[in-house]
Amino acid sequence: MPGIDYSQKIPNNVDLSSDKRLQRALEEWQPNYIEWWKSVGPTDFNTNDVYLRTAISVDKDGWAHFGYVKMPEYRWGIFLAEAVKDRTIGFGDLYGQPVWREVPGEHRNNLRRLIVTQADTEPASVEQQRLLGHTAPSLYDLRNLFQVNVEEGRHLWAMVYLLQTYFGRDGREEAEELLQRRSGNPDHPRILGTFNEPCEEWLSFFCFTMFTDRDGTFQLLALAESGFDPLARTCRFMLTEEAHHMFVGQTGVGRVIERTCEVMKQHPGKDPKAYGAIPLEIVQKWIYFWNSSSNDLYGAEVSSNSANFFGAGLKGRAYEDRYTEHKALDQSYSVDRFVEGKVKREEVALRNAMNEVLRDEYVKDNEKGIEYWNRITEKQGIDFRFRLPHRRFHRKIGEWAAGRFDIDGNPLDEATWQKRVGEWLPTDADRAFVKSLMKPVREAGKFASWIAPPAKGVDNRPADFEYVKL
Ligand SMILES: [Fe+2]
Ligand SMILES: [Fe+2]
Repeated sequence: MPGIDYSQKIPNNVDLSSDKRLQRALEEWQPNYIEWWKSVGPTDFNTNDVYLRTAISVDKDGWAHFGYVKMPEYRWGIFLAEAVKDRTIGFGDLYGQPVWREVPGEHRNNLRRLIVTQADTEPASVEQQRLLGHTAPSLYDLRNLFQVNVEEGRHLWAMVYLLQTYFGRDGREEAEELLQRRSGNPDHPRILGTFNEPCEEWLSFFCFTMFTDRDGTFQLLALAESGFDPLARTCRFMLTEEAHHMFVGQTGVGRVIERTCEVMKQHPGKDPKAYGAIPLEIVQKWIYFWNSSSNDLYGAEVSSNSANFFGAGLKGRAYEDRYTEHKALDQSYSVDRFVEGKVKREEVALRNAMNEVLRDEYVKDNEKGIEYWNRITEKQGIDFRFRLPHRRFHRKIGEWAAGRFDIDGNPLDEATWQKRVGEWLPTDADRAFVKSLMKPVREAGKFASWIAPPAKGVDNRPADFEYVKL
């Protein structure tokens, strides 16, 4: 297993120089990628020094190197986690058989589809976040935004490597397409709904990294189990980067809450808006919105595709090794269905419920984030507790897209929904208010009125470190 070779045009730990054809294909794709970054990546800031981490090894410790980098010069590359010796497929019909180093012909289309769907989210999020640099609440946050952006760019590289290496001409075409779809473009949108939602202010950015990057994490956990070993190894390394994105989201929302609590204590009985803070009720609406949208990303509750992917060994469950039985045959799973306007519990074959099984893990993990935020209000002595919406709430995909549901999951008729939706989801006035707060703060160590400083800086640097040189 070679270490990461940074002397190459494309840094990698896959011995790229030994495959000239592949190296050439990726080197041809590289300028198109840079072109994409410059045209729909972060606007401006491409000539500024940003204090970024770069992967220097795929070991558990010491993989990150911190230093000032101009974003277009970031060393995007191809890094796979170390191969596990004699790894076997951990689930499905082929449980216990050796993993594949190449794509089995019969699974080619499904694997390509899984990889393209994951790949598409990576550039999409960079596009969604492209304007946020202009309104960053501090240099610390600006740096975190750019760190997330360059790593999502690298995740695209990771997936394009798989497409170009293992899927021939189709793979090359998909790699091009990935640079051509555009988030929010009605004619040529990104594949999944959430990745076409506007993300134009920082409360959305923090909720996105909390909830949507967490979806990404759970998808990667399921793909990291794949019998197609190059995919599994790619995803395992991506997961180490994803953890930071969720940290940015969870602590970002937490700092917004902390700041509002402080304002509420200083000015009891007054509207926090008057002091440039975001009311907790508004934060809650943003949570409802981004969490419900991200719930859609798991797909239909009952799905024959998910059964096929599992059976064939393509996509497993998150933390498959925590289960004692790995074939998931002759077992059932209780799933709520929406039948003639009524919620009805049904037993379905476990394999058909794999989307829901993954969503369950996701919901559980989100609950921990909610607890973290509620510890902040509790510690501050503020009588407000956050919650997740019920998973039926505000869904556009799957069983619940056919109806309307409140945040507790109770069915509503359309008229009631229309009357009450403004209590739960951001209204135009809420959005206008949040946007009105988005004024850039560019002095090191200073923070916008609506967010508290972080508990600690990046890489043991202080909060007033010059994370971006403007
Ligand atoms: Fe990613
Ligand atoms: Fe991410």
